[in-house]
Amino acid sequence: MSKSDFPLKDVYGLLETGPVVLISTAWEKKESIMAQSWHTMIEFEPPIVACVISSLNYSHELLDKSGECAINIPTLEIGEKVAACGNASGREVDKFKAFSLTRGRAEKISAPLVMECHANLECKVVDRMEKYELFFLEVVKAHVDISVHDPKTLHHRGYGAFMVAGETVRLESEMR
Ligand SMILES: Cc1cc2nc3c(=O)[nH]c(=O)nc-3n(C[C@H](O)[C@H](O)[C@H](O)COP(=O)(O)O)c2cc1C
Repeated sequence: MSKSDFPLKDVYGLLETGPVVLISTAWEKKESIMAQSWHTMIEFEPPIVACVISSLNYSHELLDKSGECAINIPTLEIGEKVAACGNASGREVDKFKAFSLTRGRAEKISAPLVMECHANLECKVVDRMEKYELFFLEVVKAHVDISVHDPKTLHHRGYGAFMVAGETVRLESEMR
């Protein structure tokens, strides 16, 4: 196998596991939806997800003030809307309206759910690491459309390139 030097600035695209999610937030009468891909699970139960959310984003401000958000997991069917949510700011645009997305009511948080997504995770901020603009989010309620098998989730490779998840394969593994 012959390999070439690879620019360090592009390494994230190799490790990018995704799936790209839509983080929805609300504070008082303001809300936003942003595309987000730098996240990772860090605990099984209660489920805790660590997410990098830049302070340049309006969503950062809304999450900082409310302490709550929903992680909505989209699939290829709404890929263009996902990219659009990553290219516009909720400071200027009502993304639900502009991109024809449907607001759903959450049970345990005040942020809206994005109903076109096959899964919606209601989350509360349980910790922060400000240096890396990292929020630790505990999932307090999960809604999933179990009729969706092998969801075609989007996995960000950078600059408009996405891998699409496909079939599930079974291999011998004891890992939970
Ligand atoms: C595929 C994709 C992945 C992204 N991942 C992140 C991320 O992990 N963290 C982040 O802060 N911004 C990320 N962004 C950028 C935000 O989605 C973008 O800045 C958005 O316009 C912020 O919206 P807001 O100002 O309404 O919060 C991503 C954008 C795209 C298109």
